[in-house]
Amino acid sequence: MNKDNSNKEWIAILDFGSQYTQLIARRIRELKIYSEIFPYYIDISLLKEKSPKGIILSGGPDSVLNKNAPKISKNIFNLNIPILGICYGSQLINKMMGGTVSNSKNAEFGNTIIGIRHNSRLFQGLPDKITAWMSHHDIVEKMPDGFQLAAVSSGEKIAAIFDEKKNIYGLQFHPEVTHTEKGKDILYNFTHRICKCSGNWTPSVFIDNTVNEIKNEIGKGKVVAGVSGGVDSMVAAILTHKAIKEQLHCIFIDTGLMRKNESEEVRRIFKDFFEIKLYDYDYSKEFISELKGIKDPEKKRKVIGNLFIKIFEEKAKRIGNVTHLLQGTLYPDVIESVSIQGPSAKIKSHHNVGGLPEKMELRLLEPLKNLFKDEVREIGESINIPENILWRQPFPGPGLAIRVIGEINSEKLQILRDADEIIRKEILKEGLNKKLWQYFGILLPIKSVGVMGDLRTYDYSVVIRIVTSYDGMTADWARLPHELLGKISNRLINQVKGINRVLYDISSKPPSTIEWE
Ligand code: XMP
Repeated sequence: MNKDNSNKEWIAILDFGSQYTQLIARRIRELKIYSEIFPYYIDISLLKEKSPKGIILSGGPDSVLNKNAPKISKNIFNLNIPILGICYGSQLINKMMGGTVSNSKNAEFGNTIIGIRHNSRLFQGLPDKITAWMSHHDIVEKMPDGFQLAAVSSGEKIAAIFDEKKNIYGLQFHPEVTHTEKGKDILYNFTHRICKCSGNWTPSVFIDNTVNEIKNEIGKGKVVAGVSGGVDSMVAAILTHKAIKEQLHCIFIDTGLMRKNESEEVRRIFKDFFEIKLYDYDYSKEFISELKGIKDPEKKRKVIGNLFIKIFEEKAKRIGNVTHLLQGTLYPDVIESVSIQGPSAKIKSHHNVGGLPEKMELRLLEPLKNLFKDEVREIGESINIPENILWRQPFPGPGLAIRVIGEINSEKLQILRDADEIIRKEILKEGLNKKLWQYFGILLPIKSVGVMGDLRTYDYSVVIRIVTSYDGMTADWARLPHELLGKISNRLINQVKGINRVLYDISSKPPSTIEWE
């Protein structure tokens, strides 16, 4: 937990395991109020000490009717801090304060019409009816003494309750999801009208807090970071460097599988721009030689991953007494939600340098793990990361090796590198780079016949893959003007030696994936 929250306005979110907990934090931050998520079992006296302006109890998959369902200490209701319970959180408030909750066979899921019955401060300015998102079997049957009805769903079921004197509010539905009309207004009312927040949280507050957290977490320890030019790992490294300076050791392993000029760019940014020492190693020959003869995508990934870990481990060991591994993990990478226990949690399976932390007994340092990509960009902007890095497309760890379909070799990598550069430049020229999630080329392993001038050609085909997406979990192929696609195709065929055919991938994810391997 941040040591210096006490002077700042912030909202504590207690997580009961809802898939939407991070979304609550995001919505609160969109209202320019800092928020932090804690497991529901946090010590209430510790929470009191940090004096949040308000507390939100999240939803959760359990039922308060189960004997072993997650609970909180009753003391939370005596803190004199406004509380908003959402779904499970609301049912818990209800049960703990003397109301009754029951399991309904007619429970509502999905979009439900909610009738507002009382314009408590929570619903101030809302219309009489809203559509809201429901997702639970349990319903509030009888409110606790002192509570009033604020809203109902169909059949007059209780949808919202409140005790304005105690400043405790409960919602059966989820205001944090976009399906709930006016959900943001409800959260605004809670944070601004009820908790009296003014909304003054900025990236610099996040940076200050995070730098302090990192200092406290690392102490006299040593951190290693693998850097590759991605915005997440770069922001994580710069914040960590601000906190612990030379105790951070950035390792750059050039796999030879990066895009054109990318390795030079990484060096330029770290060494010249931010003056961060880079342990810089060129292993491109080794990677290409290890991949010789391998066609299977999974095998390629394994070979690259294993070799990377082997080299990284060797280099990290040489640094000596390393205690932490820095990762630019973001929220979409974090699968579990009741697992957020401060800036450094135990090893998870999703991290990029797989297997390494456990083997070397390292702890993970993940300063960005509560952020979404656009928030990382906002932080990056405020620490002066150049625009081209800030808007760099996501690039897979195994690099171009999984974009050259089948067996790779230096010639194919070169063709793809040249093609990829043209695609990137044309998209940039059109000013589309910020609107698109990814735009790149795939080199197919088949050759086809063409004609150039009077000569027959027998060359490779390149697929243009351009997608829009919010987080990479789902994606759609980008509807680009034919003129632009024509221009890219012309340039690819005329300027990249070894290509005589260009295709455009019109598959969405799912059922396809963004990458081809
Ligand atoms: P897919 O192909 O699964 O990709 O739709 C989703 C997103 O993840 C990126 N990706 C990777 N990133 N290591 C990474 O760091 C990987 O092995 C990897 N594979 C895919 C992909 O570029 C897309 O943004």
